[in-house]
Amino acid sequence: MNNPYLPVPMRIEKVVIENDARDLKTFDLAFVNESDWQNFKFLPGQFAFLSIPGAGEAPFGIASAPHEPLVKFTVKRVGVFTTALHELEPGATVGMRGPWGNFYPFELMQGKDVVIVSGGFSFTTLRATIAHLLLPENRKNYGRILAIYGARSPGELLYKEELKEWEKRSDLELVLCVDRLNGASWPQREGLVPNVLKAVAPKGENAIALVCGPPVMLRYTHPVLEELGFAPENVFLSLENRMKCGIGKCGHCNVGPKYVCKDGPVFSYAQLLKLPPEY
Ligand SMILES: Cc1cc2nc3c(=O)[nH]c(=O)nc-3n(C[C@H](O)[C@H](O)[C@H](O)COP(=O)(O)OP(=O)(O)OC[C@H]3O[C@@H](n4cnc5c(N)ncnc54)[C@H](O)[C@@H]3O)c2cc1C
Ligand code: FES
Repeated sequence: MNNPYLPVPMRIEKVVIENDARDLKTFDLAFVNESDWQNFKFLPGQFAFLSIPGAGEAPFGIASAPHEPLVKFTVKRVGVFTTALHELEPGATVGMRGPWGNFYPFELMQGKDVVIVSGGFSFTTLRATIAHLLLPENRKNYGRILAIYGARSPGELLYKEELKEWEKRSDLELVLCVDRLNGASWPQREGLVPNVLKAVAPKGENAIALVCGPPVMLRYTHPVLEELGFAPENVFLSLENRMKCGIGKCGHCNVGPKYVCKDGPVFSYAQLLKLPPEY
């Protein structure tokens, strides 16, 4: 059996600076060893640890879909590890271990509308989800796909080129919004994600909502989803608790009896209602 603490080597193929503040970068990674690639099976929602000798390791949601040739991570520079990662350029090698955790409920979503609600740089695993759902062999299994994605300002939206392509598609309704325009012109909506969700008002009947964003967005989004008729068991959120091992051994990430790394990071709102409100 493979040692779950042992990272596999990954080569950085591409680095994209995502935002005006230049503290969000997307890293496209290739497996150094073909056999590691063959063994890497995941679904959107899962995460992996990236590591750099001397700088440690940290968990990140996988931002690419399984069919994509490179494994993508979008990382905000906040501290020791993320600063070390931001300093690396294409050609450098990092370690990766995973995939860990569960994924979004793709089976439950079949035959239903999918409503994706996201704010800020938490969009990563939902970007992977959209890319996965839009594959022709998957797209036919789902109803309407609506994605509402917001950021503080237009310059803070991730994956700008891809969003432009997605806006042209007839099989995805993409609604982009920003908190404040401060008088600047922008063809999309101005407004906070929960308010935009309320205005777009997708029906909660026969629909699943996937929600990812900062805690304040989550707090204000859930009552809107409830009003729209989404039952707690049809709303899924991804949590980002502090983690050490990622495999349910160290107890660093627990919420009540659940380990976010192993039982999550994706939980239904119905599950979260039964847990202590520590998330
Ligand atoms: C399942 C999961 C998925 C994640 N996905 C992403 C992702 O896709 N992109 C991304 O940029 N980040 C993601 N994170 C958060 C990321 O792991 C942390 O930002 C990272 O560990 C910080 O490491 P550091 O050494 O740079 O920061 P440190 O030097 O350890 O800390 C710097 C600052 O960041 C704060 N911090 C550290 N970890 C966290 C955390 N988990 N949540 C909130 N604040 C934290 C610390 O309190 C401190 O203020 C994810 C976390 C989890 C658990
Ligand atoms: S991170 Fe160790 S138990 Fe979850």
